[in-house]
Amino acid sequence: MKDSDKTRMIVIDGVDGSGKGVQSRRMLEAFVRAGFDVILTREPGGSPAAEDVRKLLVEGDPEKWDSMTELMLMYASRRSHLRDTIWPALAQGKWVISDRYADSSRAFQGIAGELGLETVEKIHHIVVGDFEPELVLILDLPESIGLDRANQRGDQENRFEMKSSEYHAKVRAAYLQIASSNHQRYQVIDANQEIDQVSEALLEVVNRHFDLKLALTKIKQ
Ligand code: TMP
Repeated sequence: MKDSDKTRMIVIDGVDGSGKGVQSRRMLEAFVRAGFDVILTREPGGSPAAEDVRKLLVEGDPEKWDSMTELMLMYASRRSHLRDTIWPALAQGKWVISDRYADSSRAFQGIAGELGLETVEKIHHIVVGDFEPELVLILDLPESIGLDRANQRGDQENRFEMKSSEYHAKVRAAYLQIASSNHQRYQVIDANQEIDQVSEALLEVVNRHFDLKLALTKIKQ
């Protein structure tokens, strides 16, 4: 495939508290500094309607939805995100960086939530069709370290963080399983190191994959 044919969408995904937020903002900054037209978006959310659905998902009692209802809500918000944000941006030639995307549904609802990957893929195909991001960067670290970091944020959006430690251990293993299924699309990055080292590792993968020369800028987190 020519580099110009590649879908210009990069996803940063991983366990809660793995540093996706900081790293995706740094990635955005690197693209902007290099003069590219780029947007940073997130899931669940990323469009006005999808942000409404996000609130239902990330706040309140962990048991208020079962995995299937979560999956339905995730895909309702994903459809809005694609239609209103991602697809228009790509059609305009912009780069899209997304903090989480469909592999979160595979890992959280499909594997940790025990719906099975096959169920997620069926829904995915109905809602999304064949569209896939070009590159998915999985930030990996022990889930207990991630949860400690996430809990220190102390915000209201902690419905998933309050699920059991077994659930989060399954989420971590799920990402590694998913990543091993396609070495072209997925790259696992060790997130249990200094922020700058993680940023460097991410940029190196992106530069190699897309033949770019992005450089790290240290911005406020
Ligand atoms: P965030 O804290 O990274 O914004 O994500 C909110 C939570 O939503 C996070 O704990 C992971 C969860 N999630 C899923 O369970 N399935 C999904 O498809 C997505 C996008 C997120």
